[in-house]
Parts: sequence; C-alpha cells; structure tokens
Amino acid sequence: EKISQYDFVIVGGGTSGLVVANRLSEMSDVTVAVIEAGDSVLNNSNVTSVTGYGRSFGTAIDWQYQTEDQKYAGGSKQIMRAGKAIGGTSTINGMSYTRAQNVQIDSWESLGNKGWNWQSLFPYYMKSEGFQVPTQDQISFGADYYSDYHGEHGPMKVGWPKFLTNSTVLPALDESFNHLGVPYNRDVNGGLMVGLTSHPNTIDSEANVRHDAARAYYWPYQSRPNLKIISNTHANRIIWGNDSDGDAVAIGVEVNNINGKQIIHASKEVILSAGSLKSPVLLELSGIGNPDILSKHDIPVKVNISAVGENLQDQTNNGLSYEGKEFWLGSPTFSALPSADQLYGENFYTVASNVNSSLADYAETIANSSNGALKASNLLAVFEVQWDLIFRSKVPFAEIVFLPIAHTFSVEYWPLLPFSRGSIHIKSADASEPAAINPNYFMFEQDLTTQSDVAWYIRKVFGTLPLADLVGDERSPGLEHVPENASDSTWNSWVKANYRSNFHPVGTASMLPRNKGGVVNADLKVYGTKNVRVIDASVLPYQLCGHLTSTLYAVAERASDLIKRRYTF
Ligand code: FDA
Repeated sequence: EKISQYDFVIVGGGTSGLVVANRLSEMSDVTVAVIEAGDSVLNNSNVTSVTGYGRSFGTAIDWQYQTEDQKYAGGSKQIMRAGKAIGGTSTINGMSYTRAQNVQIDSWESLGNKGWNWQSLFPYYMKSEGFQVPTQDQISFGADYYSDYHGEHGPMKVGWPKFLTNSTVLPALDESFNHLGVPYNRDVNGGLMVGLTSHPNTIDSEANVRHDAARAYYWPYQSRPNLKIISNTHANRIIWGNDSDGDAVAIGVEVNNINGKQIIHASKEVILSAGSLKSPVLLELSGIGNPDILSKHDIPVKVNISAVGENLQDQTNNGLSYEGKEFWLGSPTFSALPSADQLYGENFYTVASNVNSSLADYAETIANSSNGALKASNLLAVFEVQWDLIFRSKVPFAEIVFLPIAHTFSVEYWPLLPFSRGSIHIKSADASEPAAINPNYFMFEQDLTTQSDVAWYIRKVFGTLPLADLVGDERSPGLEHVPENASDSTWNSWVKANYRSNFHPVGTASMLPRNKGGVVNADLKVYGTKNVRVIDASVLPYQLCGHLTSTLYAVAERASDLIKRRYTF
C-alpha cells in the first residue's frame, strides 16, 4: 500500500474545496491535497461556453443524483444535478452571481453562530471577487452596479456576458414591474435584493468563457509545490486514530481509484467539501451520524450526531413560456425578486398569518418524519426566523428569471424560502452505493400553493403593459391546459407534473449549536471531532435568496482565514 501524507486533506475539489485549497496552500510550510472524483474540464466546451447552460447535463461530469419517489409531489423521482469535475458544480451551473439579503446572513449569528453576520462576511464576498467593470455597450443593454459592492482583485471573475440581450426587454420589464409596485434595483449584491435587476455572472468577460472555481482558484496556482490535486479518485471514508480529550481524531481518508484502495494521510485536518449531497454521506460512512441509521449498516458510531443528513432543503423550479413578438439576440441576465407583499398585494396579511399559524405544525411534522433526529422546538425556532425574514424583513419571496431568446420568451421561477425539509442518508456501508435522497418537495400544502401563486403572478406580469405588447400567446402551460380563471387544484396539478429541482440543496450538515440541531460549529468543525470540518453548501442552515456560489466562495474564504489563524503564529 502506497503511503501519502499531507497536512490538510480536502475531499472534493469543487466550488468550496478549491477556495480552501488555494488559501491554505498560501502557507508555504504546509502541504494540501485535494481528492476529487472528477477530472479536468479546462477544455470542455460544454463547460467553457457562456451560452452552453445545460449542455453538460447527463454527461460524465454530472453526478445526476436521483431522489427517492417524491410522495407529496406527484410520486416520481427527480434528478439533482451536481458537477463531477475539478471545479465541482461551478462547472455546470447557471453562472448567476447574486449574494444574499443582509438580514439572512445576520440571522446565522442570531441563531448561535458567533461571528457570522453580513458585516463579517461582506469583506469575504469582496475578497473572492474579481469584478470586471462593464463596457459602454453592456451598460447600454442594462449592466449596472455600485462599485462599493464589488471587489476587483479577487480570483473569481464576475461580469456580464459579452453580448447582452438587445435593449427592448429590460425597459419593458422595468415599466411593467413599476406598475406592479416592484422597483428597479441597480445592484442586488449589496445586501438588499428586492426588485428587478440585470445581475452579473461568474464569467471572464474578456475571454467570454465561464469562470468556474478551477479557473479562478486552481489552474493559475497549480504549480505550487505544496498543493496537489488527486483527481479521478473517490473518497470512501475518514480513517480515525486514537481519540484526544474525548474527541475523534482523523488521520486520513480512504480512497479508491484506478490503482485500487489506498489511504491519503492527513497530519493536521480533514476537510469535507464534497457538496451537500455527499459530505453528510461521507460523515455517515465514517461513523458520524444517527446511531439508528449507522447500526443498520454495521458502522460503529464514532460521534453521535443525529442531525447529520437531516434538514435537506432545496427549492422547486417551474417554467412558463410565451410566443415572442420580436427576435431576441444575446444573453439575458434579467431577474425579478419581488417580496411577499409585492407579490400578494392585499392578500399579504392573510398569507402571513396563515403561515404563522402553521409553523408549529411544520416543526412537529418534520420532527416526526426525522424519527426523533430533530427536535420540534429547534425547528420552530428556525421557522420563526424564516417567517420573520419573509413577512417582516420582506426579503425576496421568489426569483423570476426572464429568458427572451430568439422568438420565445421563457421564464423560470422558484419560491426562495420553502418550509419543506427532507433528508439524505446512506442505504449501504459500501461507499460506491447511492444514498437515499429525499428533499420532500411540497411536503406542506403551503409550499405547493406558493409555487402556483408565483406562476399566477407571472401571468399577471406578462399581461401588464408594455411587456404584454412584446409577447403573443402563452405556450406553456397555455390557456388550454390552465385556463384564465383556473382553480388552485388545476394550477397545483400543473406544478406537480412539471416542476424540477432548483439544484440548490443545502442544510445537510448545518452550522448551528449542537443542541439546536447543528452538525458543525461556528468554525465549521464537526462536533465531537478534533480536526474534521465541513466547508460547502451542507453547512448553510437554510436557504438564501441569492444563488449559492457567491456566498459559498465567501464562506470558504472566511473559513480558510479561521483555519489559517490556528496554524500561523
Ligand atoms: P460542489 O458540488 O461544487 O463540489 C463538490 C465536489 O466534490 C465535486 O467536485 C465532486 O465531484 C466532489 N466529490 C463528491 N463526492 C466525492 C467523493 N466521494 N470523493 C471525491 N470527490 C467527491 N449557483 C449559482 O451561484 N448560480 C447559478 O446560476 C447556479 N445555477 C445552478 C445550476 C445547476 C444545474 C446546478 C446543479 C447548480 C446551480 N447553482 C448555481 C448552485 C451552485 O452551483 C452549487 O450550490 C455550488 O456549486 C455547490 O458548491 P459546493 O462547494 O457545495 O459543492
């Protein structure tokens, strides 16, 4: 058996893992290894093309995880996509760069994660960002920003595609949304996200290629002698040494590749960055999790944390489309982020109070479906925060993405903060077997109703002048399937028959106090361990109103600093 030893071993060379690898290897006296199941996609045109969204779906670089039957959502399974490549999911994603609402990040601290708030995270959004000022052409097509919100010197290039959609659309959207009480927002990346916007993307504007985590954080640094990527290699589990002060001590990671099984030894830390649909699985395979689940697979319990793999949260995505009356060229980056009061108008208070009176039921239902792994009182505390964010702080309630391309005006949307919660757990002690992934889409009637309400609202938007003049007939769902005055149940059936995952799973190794359902502490260290961390989307305790990568880059940057402070004197 070949022996290889590094100070830090990072599992997963994806969006978050490569940030951590880059920053830790800035310490020239430590060695860093990254274990990555995928390969380089530097020259894969499905990845590099800025108009190629979707082309890598179903290819070898897509894990295409399959869910369990979704019993509240029509019964069928869903595909949850994730990147299997150096660069992870940032190599296949939609590239949208939007952060979060400031109060959402502040709520992490109020729930017990000391040091995590908008003010402490903001410098790290800036640190990771290499903002590219838009050209006059791009500005005339809607690119807009406040320079105070952007960092120009970070590795991750952020800007607009070279060719933006011709200018008829944005002014029309703006005027129509104005009639509906939704303001224009010049730059959603300063912590206030409500409104209509033309957001930037993770793109190298000059070269007109996708800027993924590998292009930003790895390839320019690949010659560092203390940084090693071990690609085409699957991590199976953490290997433990003797406990120290009652805490579990990781000494390495068992991996599998073309050379067979081996152990990559870690003398300082093991960091799991395998994504929210893999890091919790690796914890369970390593003996950290719910004893009831581990014992079913004869895995000895190393640390009893029953919350591992619980709290799985995703959003649900549906689309509508209209016949276009113009011919649109270029890449659209238009989104509307209305708040609940803007979307519901005079019904706002009724919806707010209905949801409020259901929170205790939601908490109870989820606690029961977790077989005691989560406590209703902890869930209720989080739901109250979520309710406050939606109905008191009035953060964005849904994202509506406008895609006018050629002769079709399509729209995709997703409510941002659903209440449903699911789980992910191992089905076998064999690391090559898939896990049971159950997001529990539409577990609560309210989430389904919300999904329909937003579709109904989008119809209203397209019926509002001047936007109404840019489109002809509705093609999907179409009035023949969902008539003008369709009942709630007609809308709900359409939603269930046509929705998909929004590919934003979070929460499966939540950063929260241990007695409140947390898996990692505010240093992102796994409870009960001396030297194991999780740094990826699993630690976000609940959904954000932005797309995830911008915040994941910032979280990984800040986590890297927390680690470095421990090892530099
Ligand atoms: P990430 O998935 O990036 O990294 C995990 C890495 O670990 C992968 O490289 C994987 O191969 C590796 N790995 C897993 N298991 C392993 C094992 N056992 N051994 C070794 N390696 C292993 N966000 C956004 O900001 N804007 C957007 O427009 C979109 N759009 C979008 C579209 C689609 C289709 C998807 C799937 C996702 C998005 N997102 C998005 C979401 C965003 O891209 C996503 O949340 C993050 O990239 C996740 O980053 P992580 O670091 O958590 O995991």
